[in-house]
Amino acid sequence: MYSQALDQRDESPRGVDDAARLARFDERVAAEDKIEPNDWMPAAYRKTLIRQISQHAHSEIIGMQPEGNWLTRAPSLRRKAVLLAKVQDEAGHGLYLYAAAETLGITREELVDQLLTGKAKYSSIFNYPTLTWADMGAIGWLVDGAAIMNQVPICRCSYGPYARAMVRICKEESFHQRQGFEIMLTLSRGTDEQKAMAQDALDRWWWPSLMMFGPHDASSVHGEQSMTWKIKRFSNDELRQKFVDATVPQADFLGLRVPDDELRYDAGSGHYVFGEPDWDEFAAVLRGEGPCNEQRMAHRRRAHDDGAWVREAAEAHAAKHKAAVA
Ligand code: 3HC
Repeated sequence: MYSQALDQRDESPRGVDDAARLARFDERVAAEDKIEPNDWMPAAYRKTLIRQISQHAHSEIIGMQPEGNWLTRAPSLRRKAVLLAKVQDEAGHGLYLYAAAETLGITREELVDQLLTGKAKYSSIFNYPTLTWADMGAIGWLVDGAAIMNQVPICRCSYGPYARAMVRICKEESFHQRQGFEIMLTLSRGTDEQKAMAQDALDRWWWPSLMMFGPHDASSVHGEQSMTWKIKRFSNDELRQKFVDATVPQADFLGLRVPDDELRYDAGSGHYVFGEPDWDEFAAVLRGEGPCNEQRMAHRRRAHDDGAWVREAAEAHAAKHKAAVA
């Protein structure tokens, strides 16, 4: 599916010194230049960007489902309006990121096909169920909080369109995180039952949120190269540590307990020491064996099929317009 022509585009024309072009590319990345769509880039750089940006986009779109589940059950009109705005933002983030991926020469149809056929991944975090209203708080606070930790550095990514997309997306993620934290604060200051609901949500979302940052650096397939190319600015473990250091004090403020018996503050390093995520669970979710993988993909495939008439109508309109102006 990936158009091989693009690889040719990234190979230097015969006779041109490949090493010279690669050296020039490396110099530009080292100098903090932004690589733009029409610039020469190594084929592997293009491919890993398409991989990461498209999976990021898929995550945003699939991520609408867990929260969408609660739109009709929000406890007040205000909560419904805020959640609706957040879910709509996620759709926009997905479209933004698909557009960024398309600048690398892959079509929207190819990207969507990779998701629907299971060739492309989306974030593990969205394969967990949302069982109570408190999950809306935990997702905003923890999942969008982790997303901010991961995505703010991408605003300095070497690939221009991805970096620029992230600037706007991160501004909206901040609203997402704040509204989630406010839900958790309201519940943790509420009745005993509401506080218990908030604690239950923290218990279920804490470890999957840590897994969002990916495997340990030693097991990261792409991490080192992505750092060299300044696609990533921090490693998976560095970002996970930043997230824990920032979030544990917030849980303390909420009066909630982080579900990790090994968690302790190490004054020497200034960081929290924490336990190990369940990497077997992580691997199972990535294999499609998580609690909601099948449900999420069935929903996405049904939505794609239900939207066929819109795509057909748009294509017919475009063809008619093209014929009219030809
Ligand atoms: N879920 C699913 N797959 C994951 C994963 C996760 N949490 N963490 C890692 N993986 C996959 C990688 O995609 C890679 O598989 P692949 O070769 O088939 O793509 C493999 O596991 C090895 O991981 P690596 O560390 O080598 O992969 P990366 O260097 O790409 O790092 C990443 C993984 C940190 C997720 C990185 O891709 C990234 O920063 N992506 C951009 C941010 C993103 O996609 N966030 C997802 C959540 S979106 C979101 O939070 C929306 C918000 O509104 C809530």
